Order: sequence, then structure tokens, then C-alpha cells
Amino acid sequence: MLKAGVIGHPISHSKSPLIHRYWLKQYEIDGEYKTYDIKPDDLEGGIRNLVDLGLKGFNVTIPHKQKIMALCNTISEEAKAIGAVNTVVVDHAGHLHGYNTDAFGFSQNLNETIADFDWKNIDACIIGAGGAARAVMYALACNKAKHIRLTNRTEHNAQKLSEPYQSKVILWSDRQQAITGSNLIINTTSLGMNGQDSLDIDLTDAQNNAVVYDIVYAPLMTPLLQQAATRNMKVVTGIGMLLHQARPAFELWFGKLPFVTKELELSILG
Ligand code: ATR
Repeated sequence: MLKAGVIGHPISHSKSPLIHRYWLKQYEIDGEYKTYDIKPDDLEGGIRNLVDLGLKGFNVTIPHKQKIMALCNTISEEAKAIGAVNTVVVDHAGHLHGYNTDAFGFSQNLNETIADFDWKNIDACIIGAGGAARAVMYALACNKAKHIRLTNRTEHNAQKLSEPYQSKVILWSDRQQAITGSNLIINTTSLGMNGQDSLDIDLTDAQNNAVVYDIVYAPLMTPLLQQAATRNMKVVTGIGMLLHQARPAFELWFGKLPFVTKELELSILG
């Protein structure tokens, strides 16, 4: 039996088992995908246990995405550039190989939601500068977006993220200006999530045909996306990024690149 899983702390909330088990069943693969709660101070020991158990690999989530890098024997260019590993492959010798599939998930979700999406004429505004924003920035740069602006509550974090990409940083107090004239607005913060404050940005000043993308998926239609829909702007919900980022990981462990279907999306949203 092929074994894989996800490590994190806490981990019980993870949707990854539902996604990978759906595909294992669909492709009739004799495999399993389990959650492993590993505390930050036991990362190395916890991972050795997984290698001893014979796992082909595992996903990595909060709080291990950066610390795992020091334990990897190789790290993909993408994961290096993003500065985090979310997928690990264990080889026959027990060596760990780190990847990051979040940028893939971000781009695929956009390409599948908006037909013929024109990356090169993009004037993007990224809201937030955390882990998710790093993957989004990398994806936009790889797709050669024309302009990328970044606004974040903590200016220092925005400066740090923008530096290698030379994108423009706009102060959080001026965030309304950050979206002015933009045709791709991406919320990478947790604002708008169930139980959190909404992101208070007025989309009036964005381009009329702007695409508004929220990586939050609970609720699926965040207040920001509802505002965009009211203005007849195109919206991209966050569930697709979660589903698409899982595809390359499944292929690395189980040898098949799976597809995202409406049925899968509905079963994950419950
Ligand atoms: P993730 O890995 O999901 O991106 P993260 O790395 O903790 O999570 O990043 C969270 C992002 O949401 C950051 O950009 C954070 O802003 P700071 O850099 O100022 O911390 C942003 N964020 C979280 N709560 C926020 C709030 N109440 N208002 C504005 N921004 C918020």
C-alpha cells in the first residue's frame, strides 16, 4: 500500500485527507492519506517516524512550512524562491525532497476559472504579505504580469516580499489607492474569513473588468467577492487554489496527475 499524509500542528481541521482520499478512490489506487500531528519541537523525530513507517511523502502545513526546509536533502527552485515547502517526497534512501505547489494552485485556479486569462496585461494588486502572498507573487512574476503592487498591514513584511521582485509597496493606510486602476486584485490575508473582520476596500476605483480573487474559501463568497459580483467583476474563489495545489503532490506520490471536478469541490465544501 502507498502511504502519504499531512503534517501540522494543529492538523485536525485539514481538508487535505478528504481531497487525496477522493482521488485515491477515483483512480482505484491502493493507498492511504492520514493526518500526523507533529509539535514544532519534535519536527525532526516526527519526520523520522514517518520515514520509518514507509511514507512516500507528505504535505506540510502550519507551523512547519519553513522549518522543514532545513531537513530536506533537496529543495525545488520554486520552493526556494517562495521560501516554504508544502510537499515532501521521501525517496528509497529515506532522503527528503521539498517542493512548493501553492503557486501552481494559484495559477491553475485562475486559468480554469477565467477562460483565456491574459497574464501579460495584468496590473495586479496583492493584498497581504504572508506565506500565501509569497506564492502568489512568485506565480505572477513567472507569468510575467506587467505591474505588481503590494499592500500589507505591516510595511516591513511588504518591503521584504517585494524586494526581489521590485514590485511597488503601498502603505496599508493607502490601500484604497493600491487597487486604483488594477485589473487583478488578490486578497491573501485572512480578512473576510468566517469570524474575522471584512477587508474594507471599495472596488469602485479598480478597472471595470477587473478580476477579484480571494484565497479565503470559508465562506466561499467573501464580502470582497460579493462586492465584486455586485459590480459585475469576475470573481475567483479560494477553494480552487486549495484543490489545485494538491494535484502535483498526488502525482509525485501516487504517479497520476488528478483533475479538479465540481463534485470534488462540493464534497470538500460539505
Ligand atoms: P498565510 O500563510 O495564510 O499567508 P500568514 O503568513 O500568517 O498566513 O499571513 C497572514 C497575512 O494576513 C499577513 O499579510 C498579515 O499581515 P501582517 O504582515 O501585518 O501580519 C495579514 N493579516 C492578518 N490579520 C490581519 C488583519 N486583521 N488586518 C490586516 N492584515 C491582516
